[in-house]
Amino acid sequence: MLWGGRFSEPTDDDLRALNDSFGFDRRLYAQDIAGSMAYARALARAGVLTAHEAELITDGLQRVQAEFEAGGFRPAASDEDIHTAVERRLIELVGPVGGKLHTGRSRNDQVATDFRLWVIAALSRVDQRLEDLQIALIGQAEQHLHTLMPGYTHLQPAQPITAAHWLMSFFWMAARDRERLQDARRRAAVCPLGSGALAGTPFAIDRAALAADLGMVSVSQNSLDAVSDRDFAAEAAFGLALTGVHLSRLAEDIILYSNPQFGFITLHDRYSTGSSLMPQKRNADPLELARGKTGRLIGHVTGLLTTLKGLPSAYNKDLQEDKEGLFDAFDTIERLLPVITGVIHTLQLNSERMRLALADELLATDLADYLVEKGMPFREAHHVVGRIVRYAAEKRLSLSQIDLQTLTAFSERFGEDVAAVFQFENAVNRRRVTGGTSPTAVQAQIAAARDLLAALKA
Ligand code: ARG
Repeated sequence: MLWGGRFSEPTDDDLRALNDSFGFDRRLYAQDIAGSMAYARALARAGVLTAHEAELITDGLQRVQAEFEAGGFRPAASDEDIHTAVERRLIELVGPVGGKLHTGRSRNDQVATDFRLWVIAALSRVDQRLEDLQIALIGQAEQHLHTLMPGYTHLQPAQPITAAHWLMSFFWMAARDRERLQDARRRAAVCPLGSGALAGTPFAIDRAALAADLGMVSVSQNSLDAVSDRDFAAEAAFGLALTGVHLSRLAEDIILYSNPQFGFITLHDRYSTGSSLMPQKRNADPLELARGKTGRLIGHVTGLLTTLKGLPSAYNKDLQEDKEGLFDAFDTIERLLPVITGVIHTLQLNSERMRLALADELLATDLADYLVEKGMPFREAHHVVGRIVRYAAEKRLSLSQIDLQTLTAFSERFGEDVAAVFQFENAVNRRRVTGGTSPTAVQAQIAAARDLLAALKA
Protein backbone atom coordinates (compact mmCIF):
# COMPACT_ATOMS: atom_id res chain seq x y z
CA MET A 1 0.00 0.00 0.00
CA LEU A 2 1.32 3.39 -0.98
CA TRP A 3 -0.71 5.47 1.40
CA GLY A 4 -1.21 3.27 4.49
CA GLY A 5 0.81 5.40 6.93
CA ARG A 6 -1.98 7.41 8.48
CA PHE A 7 -4.34 4.47 9.03
CA SER A 8 -4.31 2.01 11.91
CA GLU A 9 -6.58 -0.54 10.25
CA PRO A 10 -6.47 -2.05 6.79
CA THR A 11 -9.13 -1.19 4.22
CA ASP A 12 -12.32 -3.22 4.29
CA ASP A 13 -12.24 -5.98 1.66
CA ASP A 14 -15.51 -4.93 0.06
CA LEU A 15 -14.35 -1.35 -0.20
CA ARG A 16 -11.15 -2.52 -1.77
CA ALA A 17 -13.09 -4.47 -4.39
CA LEU A 18 -15.13 -1.35 -5.12
CA ASN A 19 -12.19 1.02 -5.09
CA ASP A 20 -9.58 -0.91 -7.03
CA SER A 21 -9.31 -0.06 -10.70
CA PHE A 22 -6.32 -2.19 -11.66
CA GLY A 23 -8.67 -4.71 -13.31
CA PHE A 24 -9.45 -2.21 -16.06
CA ASP A 25 -6.83 0.53 -15.90
CA ARG A 26 -4.00 -1.95 -16.45
CA ARG A 27 -4.75 -1.17 -20.09
CA LEU A 28 -2.91 2.11 -19.44
CA TYR A 29 0.34 0.39 -18.54
CA ALA A 30 2.32 1.55 -21.58
CA GLN A 31 1.15 5.15 -21.14
CA ASP A 32 1.74 5.03 -17.39
CA ILE A 33 5.29 3.82 -17.91
CA ALA A 34 5.99 6.30 -20.72
CA GLY A 35 4.67 9.08 -18.48
CA SER A 36 6.86 7.92 -15.60
CA MET A 37 9.98 7.69 -17.72
CA ALA A 38 9.45 11.19 -19.02
CA TYR A 39 8.75 12.38 -15.49
CA ALA A 40 11.97 10.80 -14.19
CA ARG A 41 13.90 12.66 -16.89
CA ALA A 42 12.11 15.88 -15.97
CA LEU A 43 13.01 15.36 -12.31
CA ALA A 44 16.65 14.91 -13.33
CA ARG A 45 16.56 18.11 -15.38
CA ALA A 46 15.07 19.82 -12.33
CA GLY A 47 17.96 18.58 -10.19
CA VAL A 48 15.65 16.47 -8.00
CA LEU A 49 17.19 13.23 -9.24
CA THR A 50 20.80 12.68 -10.26
CA ALA A 51 21.31 11.50 -13.81
CA HIS A 52 22.26 8.11 -12.41
CA GLU A 53 19.11 7.85 -10.31
CA ALA A 54 16.97 8.77 -13.27
CA GLU A 55 18.68 6.10 -15.30
CA LEU A 56 18.12 3.46 -12.62
CA ILE A 57 14.46 4.40 -12.58
CA THR A 58 13.97 4.42 -16.35
CA ASP A 59 15.81 1.10 -16.67
CA GLY A 60 13.58 -0.34 -13.96
CA LEU A 61 10.48 0.98 -15.71
CA GLN A 62 11.68 -0.64 -18.91
CA ARG A 63 11.78 -3.96 -17.08
CA VAL A 64 8.27 -3.43 -15.71
CA GLN A 65 7.12 -2.71 -19.25
CA ALA A 66 8.77 -5.89 -20.49
CA GLU A 67 6.91 -7.86 -17.83
CA PHE A 68 3.58 -6.41 -18.95
CA GLU A 69 4.36 -7.07 -22.58
CA ALA A 70 5.39 -10.66 -21.98
CA GLY A 71 2.25 -11.20 -19.91
CA GLY A 72 4.48 -11.89 -16.93
CA PHE A 73 3.49 -8.98 -14.70
CA ARG A 74 2.31 -10.39 -11.38
CA PRO A 75 -0.12 -8.04 -9.65
CA ALA A 76 0.03 -7.82 -5.86
CA ALA A 77 -3.09 -7.72 -3.71
CA SER A 78 -2.18 -4.15 -2.81
CA ASP A 79 -2.12 -2.97 -6.42
CA GLU A 80 -4.98 -0.54 -6.27
CA ASP A 81 -4.55 0.79 -9.77
CA ILE A 82 -2.03 0.81 -12.61
CA HIS A 83 -0.09 3.68 -11.04
CA THR A 84 0.44 1.97 -7.70
CA ALA A 85 1.15 -1.34 -9.44
CA VAL A 86 3.92 0.08 -11.61
CA GLU A 87 5.47 2.01 -8.73
CA ARG A 88 5.33 -0.98 -6.38
CA ARG A 89 7.01 -3.21 -8.95
CA LEU A 90 9.60 -0.55 -9.79
CA ILE A 91 10.64 -0.31 -6.14
CA GLU A 92 10.86 -4.11 -5.92
CA LEU A 93 13.16 -4.14 -8.93
CA VAL A 94 15.40 -1.13 -8.28
CA GLY A 95 15.11 -0.61 -4.53
CA PRO A 96 14.42 2.57 -2.55
CA VAL A 97 15.58 4.88 -5.37
CA GLY A 98 12.30 3.91 -7.09
CA GLY A 99 10.52 5.68 -4.25
CA LYS A 100 11.88 9.00 -5.55
CA LEU A 101 9.87 8.85 -8.78
CA HIS A 102 6.63 10.16 -7.32
CA THR A 103 8.25 13.35 -6.00
CA GLY A 104 5.94 16.29 -6.66
CA ARG A 105 3.59 14.12 -8.67
CA SER A 106 0.10 12.94 -7.81
CA ARG A 107 -1.94 10.15 -9.26
CA ASN A 108 -4.29 12.96 -10.19
CA ASP A 109 -2.00 14.55 -12.77
CA GLN A 110 -0.60 11.10 -13.56
CA VAL A 111 -3.90 9.45 -14.50
CA ALA A 112 -5.02 12.49 -16.49
CA THR A 113 -1.78 12.26 -18.49
CA ASP A 114 -1.98 8.49 -18.98
CA PHE A 115 -5.56 8.60 -20.13
CA ARG A 116 -4.87 11.41 -22.58
CA LEU A 117 -1.96 9.48 -24.07
CA TRP A 118 -4.14 6.40 -24.41
CA VAL A 119 -6.99 8.33 -26.05
CA ILE A 120 -4.60 10.02 -28.49
CA ALA A 121 -3.30 6.63 -29.67
CA ALA A 122 -6.78 5.13 -29.84
CA LEU A 123 -8.09 8.08 -31.87
CA SER A 124 -5.31 7.54 -34.41
CA ARG A 125 -6.32 3.91 -34.82
CA VAL A 126 -9.96 4.84 -35.38
CA ASP A 127 -8.92 7.47 -37.91
CA GLN A 128 -7.12 4.78 -39.89
CA ARG A 129 -10.16 2.47 -39.74
CA LEU A 130 -12.42 5.27 -40.94
CA GLU A 131 -10.09 5.92 -43.86
CA ASP A 132 -10.32 2.23 -44.77
CA LEU A 133 -14.10 2.55 -44.85
CA GLN A 134 -13.88 5.66 -47.01
CA ILE A 135 -11.64 3.86 -49.48
CA ALA A 136 -14.09 0.96 -49.67
CA LEU A 137 -16.97 3.36 -50.31
CA ILE A 138 -15.09 5.10 -53.13
CA GLY A 139 -14.15 1.72 -54.62
CA GLN A 140 -17.79 0.62 -54.80
CA ALA A 141 -19.02 4.02 -55.94
CA GLU A 142 -16.66 4.00 -58.90
CA GLN A 143 -18.22 0.74 -60.08
CA HIS A 144 -21.71 2.21 -59.95
CA LEU A 145 -21.57 5.70 -61.44
CA HIS A 146 -24.25 4.68 -63.95
CA THR A 147 -26.26 2.30 -61.78
CA LEU A 148 -29.68 3.85 -61.27
CA MET A 149 -31.82 3.26 -58.22
CA PRO A 150 -34.77 4.90 -56.53
CA GLY A 151 -33.85 7.60 -54.05
CA TYR A 152 -36.15 7.88 -51.05
CA THR A 153 -37.37 10.57 -48.74
CA HIS A 154 -39.62 9.57 -45.83
CA LEU A 155 -38.67 6.11 -47.12
CA GLN A 156 -41.11 6.75 -49.99
CA PRO A 157 -39.85 6.59 -53.60
CA ALA A 158 -38.78 10.13 -54.50
CA GLN A 159 -36.43 10.61 -57.46
CA PRO A 160 -33.95 8.43 -59.32
CA ILE A 161 -30.35 8.61 -58.14
CA THR A 162 -27.17 6.73 -58.92
CA ALA A 163 -25.98 4.02 -56.56
CA ALA A 164 -22.60 5.78 -56.50
CA HIS A 165 -24.27 8.85 -55.08
CA TRP A 166 -25.94 6.81 -52.35
CA LEU A 167 -22.64 5.15 -51.41
CA MET A 168 -20.69 8.40 -51.42
CA SER A 169 -23.13 10.06 -49.03
CA PHE A 170 -21.57 7.92 -46.31
CA PHE A 171 -18.06 8.95 -47.33
CA TRP A 172 -18.81 12.51 -46.24
CA MET A 173 -20.24 11.42 -42.92
CA ALA A 174 -17.02 9.52 -42.27
CA ALA A 175 -15.03 12.59 -43.37
CA ARG A 176 -16.74 14.72 -40.74
CA ASP A 177 -16.25 11.97 -38.16
CA ARG A 178 -12.53 11.97 -38.87
CA GLU A 179 -12.36 15.74 -38.63
CA ARG A 180 -14.18 15.70 -35.33
CA LEU A 181 -11.99 12.97 -33.87
CA GLN A 182 -8.82 14.69 -35.08
CA ASP A 183 -10.02 17.84 -33.43
CA ALA A 184 -10.62 15.93 -30.19
CA ARG A 185 -7.11 14.52 -30.49
CA ARG A 186 -5.63 18.02 -30.66
CA ARG A 187 -7.28 18.97 -27.39
CA ALA A 188 -6.29 15.66 -25.81
CA ALA A 189 -2.64 16.48 -26.54
CA VAL A 190 -2.42 19.08 -23.76
CA CYS A 191 -0.21 17.79 -20.96
CA PRO A 192 -1.47 18.00 -17.35
CA LEU A 193 1.65 16.45 -15.78
CA GLY A 194 3.24 18.86 -13.30
CA SER A 195 -0.13 19.88 -11.90
CA GLY A 196 0.47 17.78 -8.79
CA ALA A 197 -2.61 16.85 -6.80
CA LEU A 198 -4.37 20.13 -7.56
CA ALA A 199 -2.10 23.12 -6.93
CA GLY A 200 0.94 22.50 -9.15
CA THR A 201 4.29 20.99 -8.25
CA PRO A 202 6.82 22.96 -6.20
CA PHE A 203 9.75 21.31 -8.01
CA ALA A 204 11.39 23.03 -10.97
CA ILE A 205 9.82 20.81 -13.60
CA ASP A 206 10.16 22.15 -17.15
CA ARG A 207 6.63 21.27 -18.11
CA ALA A 208 7.00 22.22 -21.76
CA ALA A 209 9.98 19.91 -22.15
CA LEU A 210 8.11 17.18 -20.31
CA ALA A 211 5.11 17.56 -22.63
CA ALA A 212 7.36 17.48 -25.69
CA ASP A 213 9.06 14.35 -24.35
CA LEU A 214 5.60 12.73 -24.31
CA GLY A 215 4.78 13.94 -27.81
CA MET A 216 2.14 16.34 -26.50
CA VAL A 217 1.78 19.76 -28.03
CA SER A 218 1.27 22.09 -25.07
CA VAL A 219 0.82 22.21 -21.30
CA SER A 220 -2.29 22.90 -19.27
CA GLN A 221 -2.49 26.43 -17.82
CA ASN A 222 -4.44 25.76 -14.64
CA SER A 223 -3.66 22.86 -12.32
CA LEU A 224 -7.13 22.76 -10.74
CA ASP A 225 -8.71 22.43 -14.16
CA ALA A 226 -6.02 20.08 -15.48
CA VAL A 227 -6.49 17.30 -12.91
CA SER A 228 -10.22 17.02 -13.53
CA ASP A 229 -10.56 18.03 -17.16
CA ARG A 230 -12.14 15.10 -18.97
CA ASP A 231 -13.46 17.14 -21.88
CA PHE A 232 -11.14 15.20 -24.16
CA ALA A 233 -12.78 11.95 -23.04
CA ALA A 234 -16.28 13.35 -23.49
CA GLU A 235 -15.39 14.70 -26.93
CA ALA A 236 -13.93 11.36 -27.96
CA ALA A 237 -17.01 9.56 -26.63
CA PHE A 238 -19.28 11.88 -28.59
CA GLY A 239 -17.17 11.58 -31.72
CA LEU A 240 -17.39 7.80 -31.50
CA ALA A 241 -21.13 7.90 -30.80
CA LEU A 242 -21.78 10.06 -33.83
CA THR A 243 -19.56 7.79 -35.91
CA GLY A 244 -21.76 4.97 -34.64
CA VAL A 245 -24.88 6.87 -35.61
CA HIS A 246 -23.56 7.16 -39.16
CA LEU A 247 -22.66 3.49 -39.31
CA SER A 248 -26.09 2.70 -37.96
CA ARG A 249 -27.77 4.68 -40.72
CA LEU A 250 -25.65 2.98 -43.36
CA ALA A 251 -26.56 -0.31 -41.73
CA GLU A 252 -30.25 0.51 -41.85
CA ASP A 253 -30.09 1.19 -45.59
CA ILE A 254 -28.21 -2.03 -46.23
CA ILE A 255 -30.63 -4.05 -44.11
CA LEU A 256 -33.55 -2.66 -46.10
CA TYR A 257 -31.92 -2.92 -49.49
CA SER A 258 -30.82 -6.49 -48.87
CA ASN A 259 -34.34 -7.51 -47.93
CA PRO A 260 -35.52 -9.71 -50.85
CA GLN A 261 -38.50 -7.41 -51.36
CA PHE A 262 -36.02 -4.69 -52.31
CA GLY A 263 -33.33 -7.05 -53.58
CA PHE A 264 -31.04 -4.12 -54.40
CA ILE A 265 -27.98 -5.60 -52.79
CA THR A 266 -26.68 -8.96 -51.68
CA LEU A 267 -24.38 -9.29 -48.72
CA HIS A 268 -21.37 -11.47 -49.28
CA ASP A 269 -21.57 -14.89 -47.64
CA ARG A 270 -18.67 -13.94 -45.42
CA TYR A 271 -20.70 -11.11 -43.96
CA SER A 272 -24.08 -12.85 -43.72
CA THR A 273 -25.44 -15.13 -41.05
CA GLY A 274 -27.99 -17.91 -41.15
CA SER A 275 -30.83 -19.11 -38.99
CA SER A 276 -30.67 -22.20 -36.79
CA LEU A 277 -34.24 -23.02 -37.79
CA MET A 278 -35.07 -21.51 -41.17
CA PRO A 279 -32.73 -22.88 -43.81
CA GLN A 280 -33.43 -20.18 -46.37
CA LYS A 281 -32.43 -17.25 -44.17
CA ARG A 282 -29.66 -14.85 -44.98
CA ASN A 283 -29.49 -12.36 -42.18
CA ALA A 284 -27.66 -9.06 -42.02
CA ASP A 285 -26.34 -9.52 -38.49
CA PRO A 286 -23.25 -7.34 -38.89
CA LEU A 287 -25.45 -4.42 -39.83
CA GLU A 288 -27.93 -5.11 -37.06
CA LEU A 289 -24.98 -5.13 -34.67
CA ALA A 290 -23.81 -1.78 -36.01
CA ARG A 291 -27.26 -0.42 -35.32
CA GLY A 292 -27.51 -2.12 -31.94
CA LYS A 293 -24.07 -1.26 -30.64
CA THR A 294 -24.61 2.40 -31.43
CA GLY A 295 -27.04 2.40 -28.51
CA ARG A 296 -24.25 1.65 -26.09
CA LEU A 297 -21.94 4.20 -27.71
CA ILE A 298 -24.57 6.84 -27.05
CA GLY A 299 -24.95 5.48 -23.53
CA HIS A 300 -21.25 6.03 -22.85
CA VAL A 301 -21.50 9.73 -23.73
CA THR A 302 -24.47 10.12 -21.43
CA GLY A 303 -22.74 8.17 -18.66
CA LEU A 304 -19.58 10.24 -18.79
CA LEU A 305 -21.35 13.59 -18.92
CA THR A 306 -23.51 12.54 -16.00
CA THR A 307 -20.41 11.61 -14.00
CA LEU A 308 -18.87 15.01 -14.70
CA LYS A 309 -21.81 17.29 -14.18
CA GLY A 310 -21.95 17.44 -10.40
CA LEU A 311 -18.26 17.36 -9.54
CA PRO A 312 -16.76 19.98 -7.27
CA SER A 313 -13.41 21.46 -8.33
CA ALA A 314 -10.34 19.37 -9.00
CA TYR A 315 -9.99 15.60 -8.73
CA ASN A 316 -12.74 13.43 -7.25
CA LYS A 317 -12.79 9.68 -7.26
CA ASP A 318 -15.90 9.76 -9.43
CA LEU A 319 -13.44 10.41 -12.25
CA GLN A 320 -12.26 6.83 -12.06
CA GLU A 321 -15.55 6.08 -13.81
CA ASP A 322 -14.28 7.79 -16.96
CA LYS A 323 -12.33 4.83 -18.27
CA GLU A 324 -14.43 1.70 -18.67
CA GLY A 325 -17.06 3.40 -20.79
CA LEU A 326 -14.55 5.01 -23.12
CA PHE A 327 -12.48 1.82 -23.37
CA ASP A 328 -15.66 0.02 -24.35
CA ALA A 329 -16.58 2.75 -26.83
CA PHE A 330 -13.23 2.38 -28.59
CA ASP A 331 -13.38 -1.42 -28.46
CA THR A 332 -16.86 -1.34 -29.94
CA ILE A 333 -16.03 1.00 -32.79
CA GLU A 334 -12.72 -0.71 -33.52
CA ARG A 335 -14.46 -4.07 -33.75
CA LEU A 336 -17.26 -2.65 -35.87
CA LEU A 337 -15.41 -0.59 -38.45
CA PRO A 338 -13.37 -3.36 -40.12
CA VAL A 339 -16.53 -5.46 -40.47
CA ILE A 340 -18.53 -2.65 -42.04
CA THR A 341 -15.60 -1.93 -44.35
CA GLY A 342 -15.59 -5.60 -45.33
CA VAL A 343 -19.33 -5.49 -45.95
CA ILE A 344 -18.87 -2.52 -48.30
CA HIS A 345 -15.89 -4.04 -50.08
CA THR A 346 -17.77 -7.23 -50.84
CA LEU A 347 -21.23 -5.78 -51.36
CA GLN A 348 -22.96 -6.94 -54.53
CA LEU A 349 -25.23 -4.34 -56.08
CA ASN A 350 -28.01 -5.82 -58.20
CA SER A 351 -28.45 -3.16 -60.85
CA GLU A 352 -31.36 -4.90 -62.62
CA ARG A 353 -33.38 -5.06 -59.41
CA MET A 354 -32.68 -1.41 -58.72
CA ARG A 355 -33.70 -0.56 -62.25
CA LEU A 356 -36.96 -2.52 -61.93
CA ALA A 357 -37.81 -0.55 -58.81
CA LEU A 358 -37.76 2.70 -60.77
CA ALA A 359 -41.38 3.69 -61.35
CA ASP A 360 -42.47 6.55 -63.61
CA GLU A 361 -43.80 8.36 -60.55
CA LEU A 362 -40.21 9.12 -59.64
CA LEU A 363 -40.18 11.39 -62.70
CA ALA A 364 -43.12 13.53 -61.58
CA THR A 365 -40.80 16.34 -60.51
CA ASP A 366 -39.06 16.21 -63.88
CA LEU A 367 -42.43 16.36 -65.61
CA ALA A 368 -43.22 19.52 -63.66
CA ASP A 369 -39.77 20.90 -64.54
CA TYR A 370 -40.59 20.23 -68.20
CA LEU A 371 -43.63 22.51 -67.93
CA VAL A 372 -41.49 25.10 -66.12
CA GLU A 373 -39.09 25.06 -69.04
CA LYS A 374 -42.10 25.73 -71.27
CA GLY A 375 -42.84 28.84 -69.24
CA MET A 376 -45.30 27.65 -66.57
CA PRO A 377 -44.74 28.83 -62.97
CA PHE A 378 -43.52 25.91 -60.86
CA ARG A 379 -46.44 25.99 -58.41
CA GLU A 380 -48.90 25.64 -61.27
CA ALA A 381 -46.81 22.90 -62.89
CA HIS A 382 -46.78 21.02 -59.58
CA HIS A 383 -50.55 21.16 -59.51
CA VAL A 384 -50.96 20.04 -63.13
CA VAL A 385 -48.63 17.10 -62.68
CA GLY A 386 -50.41 16.19 -59.44
CA ARG A 387 -53.61 15.87 -61.42
CA ILE A 388 -51.88 13.78 -64.07
CA VAL A 389 -50.51 11.46 -61.37
CA ARG A 390 -54.01 11.07 -59.93
CA TYR A 391 -55.41 10.37 -63.41
CA ALA A 392 -52.72 7.75 -64.06
CA ALA A 393 -53.48 6.04 -60.74
CA GLU A 394 -57.20 5.94 -61.53
CA LYS A 395 -56.59 4.53 -65.00
CA ARG A 396 -53.90 2.17 -63.69
CA LEU A 397 -51.41 3.60 -66.12
CA SER A 398 -47.85 4.59 -65.56
CA LEU A 399 -47.05 8.21 -66.42
CA SER A 400 -45.23 7.30 -69.63
CA GLN A 401 -48.24 5.30 -70.86
CA ILE A 402 -50.41 8.41 -71.04
CA ASP A 403 -50.60 9.54 -74.65
CA LEU A 404 -49.69 13.03 -75.75
CA GLN A 405 -53.26 13.95 -76.60
CA THR A 406 -54.36 13.19 -73.04
CA LEU A 407 -51.42 15.13 -71.65
CA THR A 408 -52.31 18.19 -73.73
CA ALA A 409 -55.78 18.09 -72.16
CA PHE A 410 -54.00 18.80 -68.85
CA SER A 411 -51.79 21.48 -70.40
CA GLU A 412 -51.34 22.94 -73.86
CA ARG A 413 -47.65 23.15 -73.21
CA PHE A 414 -46.99 19.42 -73.62
CA GLY A 415 -45.32 18.50 -76.90
CA GLU A 416 -43.57 15.55 -78.59
CA ASP A 417 -40.38 16.25 -76.68
CA VAL A 418 -42.06 15.16 -73.40
CA ALA A 419 -40.96 11.59 -74.23
CA ALA A 420 -37.41 12.45 -73.14
CA VAL A 421 -38.67 13.17 -69.61
CA PHE A 422 -39.52 9.50 -69.23
CA GLN A 423 -35.91 8.41 -69.56
CA PHE A 424 -34.58 7.83 -66.05
CA GLU A 425 -31.06 8.55 -67.29
CA ASN A 426 -32.13 12.02 -68.30
CA ALA A 427 -33.53 12.78 -64.85
CA VAL A 428 -30.20 11.77 -63.31
CA ASN A 429 -28.04 13.49 -65.93
CA ARG A 430 -29.85 16.80 -65.47
CA ARG A 431 -28.64 17.02 -61.87
CA ARG A 432 -25.14 18.13 -62.73
CA VAL A 433 -24.86 20.71 -59.98
CA THR A 434 -22.03 20.26 -57.48
CA GLY A 435 -23.24 17.61 -55.05
CA GLY A 436 -25.83 16.32 -57.52
CA THR A 437 -26.46 12.74 -58.53
CA SER A 438 -25.43 12.85 -62.22
CA PRO A 439 -22.49 10.63 -63.13
CA THR A 440 -20.35 13.65 -64.01
CA ALA A 441 -21.15 15.37 -60.72
CA VAL A 442 -20.46 12.16 -58.80
CA GLN A 443 -17.17 11.80 -60.66
CA ALA A 444 -16.25 15.28 -59.46
CA GLN A 445 -17.44 14.32 -55.99
CA ILE A 446 -15.16 11.30 -55.98
CA ALA A 447 -12.25 13.45 -57.16
CA ALA A 448 -12.91 15.83 -54.25
CA ALA A 449 -13.07 12.86 -51.91
CA ARG A 450 -9.72 11.58 -53.15
CA ASP A 451 -8.19 15.04 -52.74
CA LEU A 452 -9.45 15.12 -49.17
CA LEU A 453 -7.90 11.73 -48.41
CA ALA A 454 -4.60 12.84 -49.91
CA ALA A 455 -4.65 16.08 -47.92
CA LEU A 456 -5.26 14.16 -44.69
CA LYS A 457 -2.35 11.86 -45.48
CA ALA A 458 0.05 14.74 -46.10
N1 ARG B 1 -7.42 5.09 -10.18
C1 ARG B 1 -7.60 6.49 -10.11
C2 ARG B 1 -8.43 6.97 -11.29
O1 ARG B 1 -8.60 6.22 -12.20
C3 ARG B 1 -6.27 7.19 -10.14
C4 ARG B 1 -6.25 8.50 -9.45
C5 ARG B 1 -6.45 8.30 -8.01
N2 ARG B 1 -6.24 9.51 -7.29
C6 ARG B 1 -6.56 9.62 -6.00
N3 ARG B 1 -6.32 10.75 -5.43
N4 ARG B 1 -7.08 8.64 -5.33
O2 ARG B 1 -8.94 8.06 -11.33
